This record gives sequence, C-alpha cells and structure tokens, in this order.
Amino acid sequence: MTADGLAISAKGLTKHYGKLVAVDHVDLAVPRGTIFGLLGPNGAGKTTIIKMLTGLSDITDGTATVAGFDVARDPMHVKQRVGWVAAEVILDDDLSGWENLWLQAKLQHLTEWKERALQLLAYFELTDRRKDKVGTYSTGMRKKMEIALALLHQPEVIFMDEPTIGLDANVRRMLWELITGVNRQFGVTVLLTSHYIEEADFLCDHVAIIDHGKFVAVGTPSELKARVRADYVELETSEAVTPAKLEAIAGVTSVRQQGSTWVLRVSSAEEVLPRLFHTLATDGIRRINVEKPSLESVFIDITGKKIDQAGPDVQDYRKFYASVRRARQ
Ligand SMILES: Nc1ncnc2c1ncn2[C@@H]1O[C@H](COP(=O)(O)OP(=O)(O)OP(=O)(O)O)[C@@H](O)[C@H]1O
Ligand SMILES: [Mg+2]
Repeated sequence: MTADGLAISAKGLTKHYGKLVAVDHVDLAVPRGTIFGLLGPNGAGKTTIIKMLTGLSDITDGTATVAGFDVARDPMHVKQRVGWVAAEVILDDDLSGWENLWLQAKLQHLTEWKERALQLLAYFELTDRRKDKVGTYSTGMRKKMEIALALLHQPEVIFMDEPTIGLDANVRRMLWELITGVNRQFGVTVLLTSHYIEEADFLCDHVAIIDHGKFVAVGTPSELKARVRADYVELETSEAVTPAKLEAIAGVTSVRQQGSTWVLRVSSAEEVLPRLFHTLATDGIRRINVEKPSLESVFIDITGKKIDQAGPDVQDYRKFYASVRRARQ
C-alpha cells in the first residue's frame, strides 16, 4: 500500500492499439479495502485497464501504482500482490478442489500455502468437497473455487473481469455476497468490471463509468445517481410517432431515438406518464419502461445511450460474421 492509503492509483493511464485509443488518460484512486467498479459497454476499455494494472499489457502513457509498486517499473512485485479472477474458467475439471489449489501453489512457487488453502476451503464451505473432481461442482461452487485460487497467495488486490457474466440471477446474487464477504473478511481491495448496472450499484463503494476509453463519471453510486435529476421513459409504439409530438408533452425535456425505442428524459415519470398515455392513446403503446435515477440513467444522461445496447463490439462482431458469410458464399 502507498502512504496515501490507495491500493491502486493511476494518472493519465493510456493505451493505444495502433491508431485506436482504447484507454484515454484515465485517473484512478482506489482506497485500500474498498470495492471499485468499472462500468461500461462493450469495447469501452475495461479489460484493457485491468491488463495494464496487472502488467499483462504495456502502458502506452501515464503511470500506475498497484499495492505500492509502480506497474511499469516493478511488474513482478505487482504480480505477487494481486490476484485475478477471469471471466474464463481457470479450473482443471479433472483435478479435485484441493489439487487445483495445489497446482495454483506450484504455479506461483508458494511454499506456505496449505493453511491458507484450508482456511479458504472452510470460508467457501468447500471443505467436504475438496477431494471431489471440480468437474462435478455446481456453478456456484466453481465460482467459489475460482475466487479461492485467486486468494491463495494472500493478494492485497484482486481483479475481477466481468465476474458474473453469463450466470443466472441466483448465482449472480450469491457471488455478490461472496465478493462483499471476501472484501470484508480478507481486507482485500477489489477492482471489478461489469456491464450490469445493479451489480455495480450493489457491490461497489466507488464506480467509474467508462465510455470510449474515458471516464465520464466517477463517484459513489449514490453520488452519481444524485446527479441525475430526471427519470427516463423508454417507449415503443406500433404507429410511427414524430419527435415533435413527444417533445410537445409537458415535462418531457429531451427525446432520443435508439433503434425502435424512444428514450424520453422527463422531469418526473409520475407527472408525465398520464400525459404521455393521453397523447399517444391512438399510437398503440407496445412497451413502456420507466428508469428511475440509476447508474443506467447516469450513463444515458452523459453519453446519450444505454449501456447494454451501446458499444462498437456488437457491430464489429456483426461486421466480422457478415464478412465471413460473404466469403463462404
Ligand atoms: N489486443 C488488442 N489489439 C487491438 N485492439 C484491442 C486489443 N484488445 C482490445 N482492443 C480494443 O480496445 C478497445 C477496448 O477493449 P476492451 O477489451 O478493453 O473493452 P471492454 O470494456 O473490456 O469490453 P467488453 O465489455 O466487451 O469486455 C476495443 O475497441 C477493443 O477492440
Ligand atoms: Mg472486457
């Protein structure tokens, strides 16, 4: 830890991939023992930040200190003090839980690890299953095992890249409790990335909202939400509606179209909804959704788009597969 009480700090952190600026002059200050979230759409630069902070990817410009060591000058010391829980499964299914821990200890040249391993197994309630092959574990147990592996060498900081992606709601909830528990019980600082609004809101002491490589807002979830003095109404209708018709409704302060959805910024959903129903009575409201101040509306407020629907990666992906299809024809 640095004298300033920060587990992670970065100034002007930047990453270029050729001409692409994946991370653009980001400043980070993560107090020791807290949970910090990077929230943003596909391709925003979240994973790239983690890669730079863990020494996996060179820093193009700027500086970063993790667990008291400069990442560019002292990557080995950083690596010894951080853990990584990747979205991809890192477990060996043919080995038991205990053998996975043993393998992890081998890979990291740990000598004193058994006591810690037993403590982790007990904490994650896996003691009884430690001799069973990990291939027989449930999704939740596998997640616990992955976190146990990342904690084995007693890191000061753990990085979790999309820890709950692809999990069903129950396992996701369980994992939220686990991450909070690990943070409190082991005093470990957590930096995680997420697309999920509720996840960042529930878990994180501080959140940075990231878009196109830049931090567009940083603060506690409640600070960020307090900035938005508006509700958002998302609307789909079966008849074509003009923006002018929506803008004319009292209390509607802005109107944007995203695909087939209208996104209205309104002073108060309670006041505006009756007027909206009245005005659109003949246009066939197909779907309506009210977004009260949330980290999602913070993102919409700043960037003009929703987190889930935004992002170049989906388009890149579609472009890529379109070109593959064309090549095969
Ligand atoms: N090795 C690489 N070479 C070239 N470009 C890259 C490389 N890695 C990432 N990028 C690009 O950098 C940008 C940021 O990518 P990054 O993986 O950090 O985004 P992300 O926020 O983690 O997205 P996701 O939510 O999809 O995981 C993207 O435009 C991506 O295509
Ligand atoms: Mg990523």
